[in-house]
Amino acid sequence: MQEDLVLARKEGRVGILQLNRPAQLNALNDALMDALGIALLAMEQDNDIGCIVLTGSAKAFAAGADIAAMQPMNYINVVRNNFIGRNWETILTLRKPVIAAVAGYALGGGCELAMMCDFIIAADNAKFGQPEIKIGVIPGAGGTQRLPRAISKSKAMDMVLTGRMMDAQEAERAGLVSRIVPADKLEQEAIEAATIIAAMSLPSVMAAKEAVNRAYESTLNEGVLFERRTFHALFGTLDQKEGMTAFLEKRKPDFKHE
Ligand code: CAA
Repeated sequence: MQEDLVLARKEGRVGILQLNRPAQLNALNDALMDALGIALLAMEQDNDIGCIVLTGSAKAFAAGADIAAMQPMNYINVVRNNFIGRNWETILTLRKPVIAAVAGYALGGGCELAMMCDFIIAADNAKFGQPEIKIGVIPGAGGTQRLPRAISKSKAMDMVLTGRMMDAQEAERAGLVSRIVPADKLEQEAIEAATIIAAMSLPSVMAAKEAVNRAYESTLNEGVLFERRTFHALFGTLDQKEGMTAFLEKRKPDFKHE
């Protein structure tokens, strides 16, 4: 029997998904990406989950798309099967936040998957890279687009053209990761961050995620207009009254996520 390729569990209002092909350094094959998509959508539907943590193993978040699976593919296969597009981008459809907790290698598709998350918390042993050039291709899950937006054109070109790796410190300096934590504290720190987010009002969490993402897709004026309309809309929630009343009453808010 095949073991579960993605392990799912809950801690409070946090959903935790762990990529689980450790012997292959979590190389991302079709079955794993199908399983990940299903698990993500289940957590998106679960009203008791407010934030998701996506993690890998101690040695690798994911060392990229599965090279053994890709080696025999040809142009017609990948076009017909919509390789990458078919099952890799489910994560982008989620309205709840997803935090990537990265230890060890996040290479190729692994780095791209981490960049599809809302932010990245890196263990001090994390290594990021887009080494596809070394195997005769280029990044195929958004690396050439998301990396320059995250870390500047010059550094992205360096990474994509040389295939070199970046350690956690360089990744933090470059803005790819939001924070670095000791490797043995990675999961705990990511769950703590997710717990803080999951305690907020879910409608405002989803609105905040949508508004920040809009910054990448619109002009400044359009983005600010989108933010303003969304900000106004949140005055229609019960949680806005609760949040502001709780502040004035000097107590913690008890958000109902509506
Ligand atoms: N695909 C398939 N198998 C992989 C893999 C991958 N991307 N990465 C590692 N593995 C497998 C290895 O083949 C090896 O399997 P065996 O034990 O059966 O030989 C096992 O995982 C352990 O790997 P190594 O022995 O190589 O471990 P290492 O510590 O010596 O090296 C590494 C680690 C530097 C990450 C090295 O494994 C490596 O370079 N991996 C490939 C990285 C890569 O090129 N990623 C990009 C893939 S292309 C892509 O992702 C396309 C896209 O944009 C979507």
